Amino acid sequence: MQTRTKWCLLALGFGLGLSQYRSHTLSRHGDGTIVHLFEWRWSDIADECERYLAPNGFQGVQISPPSEHIVVSKPHRPWWERYQPVSYNLCSRSGTEGELRDMISRCNDVGVKIYADVVINHMCAADAGEGGRSTRGSYFNASREEFPSVPYSAADFNDDKCTSGSGNIENYQDIYQVRNCRLLGLLDLAQEKEHVRGKIVDYLNALVDMGVAGFHVDACKHMWPKDLKVIYGRLHNLNPKWFPEGSRPLVYQEVIDLGDEPIKASEFYTLGLVTEFKYGAMLGSVFRKWNGYKLSYLRTWGEGWGLMPSDRALVFVDNHDNQRGHGAGGASILTFWEPRPYRAAVAFMLAHPYGMSRVMSSYRWDRHVVNGQDENDWVGPPSYPDGSTKPVPINPDGSCGDRWVCEHRWPQIRNMVTFRRIVSGQPLCNWWDNRSNQIAFGRGDRGFIVINNDDCCLDVSLSTGLAAGTYCDVISGQKRDGKCTGKQITVDNRGRAHFIISSTDQDPLVAIHTHSKL
Ligand SMILES: *[C@@H]1O[C@H](CO)[C@@H](O)[C@H](O)[C@H]1NC(C)=O
Ligand SMILES: *[C@@H]1O[C@H](CO)[C@@H](O)[C@H](O)[C@H]1NC(C)=O
Repeated sequence: MQTRTKWCLLALGFGLGLSQYRSHTLSRHGDGTIVHLFEWRWSDIADECERYLAPNGFQGVQISPPSEHIVVSKPHRPWWERYQPVSYNLCSRSGTEGELRDMISRCNDVGVKIYADVVINHMCAADAGEGGRSTRGSYFNASREEFPSVPYSAADFNDDKCTSGSGNIENYQDIYQVRNCRLLGLLDLAQEKEHVRGKIVDYLNALVDMGVAGFHVDACKHMWPKDLKVIYGRLHNLNPKWFPEGSRPLVYQEVIDLGDEPIKASEFYTLGLVTEFKYGAMLGSVFRKWNGYKLSYLRTWGEGWGLMPSDRALVFVDNHDNQRGHGAGGASILTFWEPRPYRAAVAFMLAHPYGMSRVMSSYRWDRHVVNGQDENDWVGPPSYPDGSTKPVPINPDGSCGDRWVCEHRWPQIRNMVTFRRIVSGQPLCNWWDNRSNQIAFGRGDRGFIVINNDDCCLDVSLSTGLAAGTYCDVISGQKRDGKCTGKQITVDNRGRAHFIISSTDQDPLVAIHTHSKL
């Protein structure tokens, strides 16, 4: 008991340290969760903020890149065309500038923050733009490096500094190549040039002035931190219509650092948060029991596993890249294709205090795996024959239709987003494991979770830290109109409760919190 109390206090100390970097984004929703509505149209996001995200306490939405991009016909309208900008006009596959502005405003009005995915490392690929099609019809010529609607011209790109033979990044052990050469042929902007910095800053500030709360910055590994520092430093304060005077944008930077390259995530810690790609890769391995990993090893999850400092980390089980074999993480990444272990891993992430969490919201595609490679990894969002993205229909049971997966609407994930909000700031306490794949832990006196990743049953009495009473499990059901639609858990006067989880239960876990008390 003695050591347990100390651990709780220690953890609380860490918790308090978080606030200095992200106070504005946390002041209203506590330790909130961001959902990535990948490839959704702006008008659907606006509706989702009002009808679902605000009522269920989501902190914010990561939106797909809002800038004008190439239109690719071979293959037909892949998702990655949005990572190939041709201008900073706010007209993309998700909608027009007017629709973007309306969405940001409607989401802010109901307290849901918008974080824009921004592509500022590069423009489109050198060989892109057969026919030169773009989402707003702006002229560009990639082979001549001409983007008159920014405007950028050849002098704004890094070609003269790149030392690789092909002009592309060939060697990830050479930091100069990684930052001065082309990533997969994408024309690499020279962010040290005043003209380029100015155009990027103007683009980001247009979004800040419209009301976005911050940015996911794509491909940060491929830019120099000193240039990013200047760019972030010139960002306007958040729009006072929705945010306290003097609030700064939250920036989380995409840096894929799995530990085997000279460029380190730590170079970006002073600039903002950083995507922790080791998180999903390692957590996937643990839930899959690869390399002899057991759930009980998660007792030291976080910095103890070589992850970055908690107050720097943006964490996720999967993202739009690695759920289809792109980017980092490889085969261990859990996705909606394996719903049972996926829900358990997402629930663990949302229950655990480490990092700031983001949940994925995907669409289905026809996977066609040949020699470990998905030949359909390019497939874009559900769309009409003319290539325009389809709306997201909502079924009577709350799930989404038309190939939209909507993991964030899965009741188990939605209820764990609520759990995270309720246990915000509470230390991790009452850890238990059976030295194998059964674990449990609490968050102060607010919530408790039990996970059974063994092939057999779990049947055990545990200290929960919760007040005596009957609680409704928010995984097998939830509290509704004062009644419980799932398992009921009784906590006795000493804070102990009995848990039974069979390996054939729909979900291998149980979670209760103060708001699920009957
Ligand atoms: C782009 O420039 C190249 C080289 O000058 C030219 O051959 C090509 O036709 C141009 N493409 C477009 C779409 O204007
Ligand atoms: C943990 O629980 C599983 C499932 O009941 C069991 O197979 C395993 O032996 C337990 N481990 C220990 C160390 O008790």
